[in-house]
Amino acid sequence: MTNEAATGTIGRYASPWIARMPFPSLHTPRLLLQPLQLADAEQIQPLFAQWEVVRYLNAQVPWPCPADGALRYLRDVALPAMAAGTEWHWTLRLLDEPEEVIGVVSLMDTPGNNRGFWIAPAWQRQGLMSEACVAVNRYWFEVLQRPLMQVPKAVDNIASQRLSMREGMRLMETGESDYVCGRLPSQIWALSREEWLNRQT
Ligand SMILES: CC(C)(COP(=O)(O)OP(=O)(O)OC[C@H]1O[C@@H](n2cnc3c(N)ncnc32)[C@H](O)[C@@H]1OP(=O)(O)O)[C@@H](O)C(=O)NCCC(=O)NCCS
Repeated sequence: MTNEAATGTIGRYASPWIARMPFPSLHTPRLLLQPLQLADAEQIQPLFAQWEVVRYLNAQVPWPCPADGALRYLRDVALPAMAAGTEWHWTLRLLDEPEEVIGVVSLMDTPGNNRGFWIAPAWQRQGLMSEACVAVNRYWFEVLQRPLMQVPKAVDNIASQRLSMREGMRLMETGESDYVCGRLPSQIWALSREEWLNRQT
């Protein structure tokens, strides 16, 4: 890590939020989930700016991704929301490679959209996001004490759908939404705190 990154500055940008860790790191058997920091933008930019990662994300994500897209998103959207206590973003890192970011998982107090995630293609299909979701779901229901988790997704996003099904989520709503790849049938899946608690035994 460069000195600039360590002190929370990249080029001419500086973040007043970098020193604050408003919520803890989480651990899973294979992963360290570390609260997002401005310095992560450097690693996130090339991983996120890939068609396989963004195609089923909300159309608000610009494509092609601008060269400073990650930095702008972290600085202007994610870090202020973390400081305001309305969003919780963690980078995913393998426990044995803790310096390397491989994805992001997020919780949000946005109605109908409480969790988001992506993991770079090289680390997909290894059960890693399912593992990360066990930890962040626990944070949502146990620490944040939220009564319900709702997650939107494109019907074509089979991986995301299977992950929700495996978690015991139920399909609540269907419709259409605009994604980076265009307008597609969409779904909202949900899990209540009670349903989540019943699955913990
Ligand atoms: C969705 C995503 C985060 C899943 O991450 P992952 O670490 O690969 O997921 P897991 O390995 O934990 O697998 C979850 C389930 O999806 C299945 N799966 C994973 N990738 C798949 C694929 N490409 N095609 C079909 N099924 C897939 C797994 O087999 C598993 O199903 P199972 O539990 O029934 O066996 C990842 O594909 C991704 O980053 N996609 C791009 C970003 C995105 O679409 N985010 C979600 C927006 S709603």
